[in-house]
Amino acid sequence: MNYDKKTIRDIDVSGKKILLRCDFNVPHDKATGVIHDDTRIVSTLPTIRYLLDHNAAVILLSHMGRPHGEWKKELSLFSARDHLEELLEMPVPLTEDVLGPDTKAKCAALQPGQVVLVENLRFRLEEEKNDPEFAKELASLADIFVFDAFGAAHRAHASTEGVSHYLPSVAGLLVEKELEFMGKALDDPKRPLVAILGGSKVSDKIGVINNLLQKADTILIGGGMAYTFQAALGRDIGTSLLDANHVGYAKDMIAKAQEMGVKLLLPQDNLAAKEFSADAEPILVDATDFPHDLMGMDIGPKTIEDFTGAIAGAGTVIWNGPMGVFEFPAFANGTNAVAKAMSDQKDAVTIVGGGDSSSAVEKSGFADKLSHISTGGGASLEFLEGLVLPGIACLADKD
Ligand code: 3PG
Repeated sequence: MNYDKKTIRDIDVSGKKILLRCDFNVPHDKATGVIHDDTRIVSTLPTIRYLLDHNAAVILLSHMGRPHGEWKKELSLFSARDHLEELLEMPVPLTEDVLGPDTKAKCAALQPGQVVLVENLRFRLEEEKNDPEFAKELASLADIFVFDAFGAAHRAHASTEGVSHYLPSVAGLLVEKELEFMGKALDDPKRPLVAILGGSKVSDKIGVINNLLQKADTILIGGGMAYTFQAALGRDIGTSLLDANHVGYAKDMIAKAQEMGVKLLLPQDNLAAKEFSADAEPILVDATDFPHDLMGMDIGPKTIEDFTGAIAGAGTVIWNGPMGVFEFPAFANGTNAVAKAMSDQKDAVTIVGGGDSSSAVEKSGFADKLSHISTGGGASLEFLEGLVLPGIACLADKD
């Protein structure tokens, strides 16, 4: 996939109506609407401000949750609207329908320097179906399509891909930044490239491991998925998480890494516990001598030393997936140590590839010392797998 896409800086937006697709699908309280993490909203502000400062009229589009065509009050974008009003310090009217008379009237009346937010697009089934008529009608509201919803770039929906068939289509500044960091890390990284993979399931990361084996110099595997790799080496893993269907795959990957000269580091030791609980007593175990009645909950100090050592020598670090059960403070050491080691690398490019690892980094307090934290969850994973993301592929290439 070509990452060199035209952006809003490459076109004239003055006096134009812009359909700006954002990803305001933020974690929020279903009853009160209180937003728990506004990163995705804040990350889109540079694009919105750029467009307003350059005399454009901005029609904001987003989805929230998965209502599958039903109007669900708890998935309304009203809390995103309220928050945007505070951040932008200007009114952000929210439409009362999705592409009905109210949307059309509000968009028709919109003037340069003004913003309107269309209600959750997934209240209409046509959105996820990428219905061409719906996409065409959406496109008819504006002159230009700007895609800044990196988190939804892996979805070929009417507002992410469909509209691009009817309007000149360019990237927003958030998507530009995501492509600049993640794209470069995969295609032309400052070496050595160290990839850190964690999270619970091997099955979620197969495509990522396959792709990174072709790109990385070193791969560090921690988190729940590491126990399947440890089992593939013939080690006992006690009652730790095992992805029994993927032990063979893990064995093949260990062999493939060796064949390709990629350093693959697995945990040498773990913090284990008798039960899966925040109050469980952490017990240090050697990975080659794992007690049968314990489950692994975090990487141990020797592994932390190995992993932070590899990070210290890196030119680029890309991280996806926590090293342990970081939600329990007693088992957050490995994840925090990786975040700290990355933040200590002043001359390296340090990237966190979305999802749980992004929340872990935010929690660790090192977030602002890293080069880039992706706003994508599923989209970042697909990006790291080397898959084509329809929301990006449809944008105009740079000349
Ligand atoms: C996300 O949260 O990953 C994006 O907003 C996409 O949401 P979806 O998985 O419901 O398409």
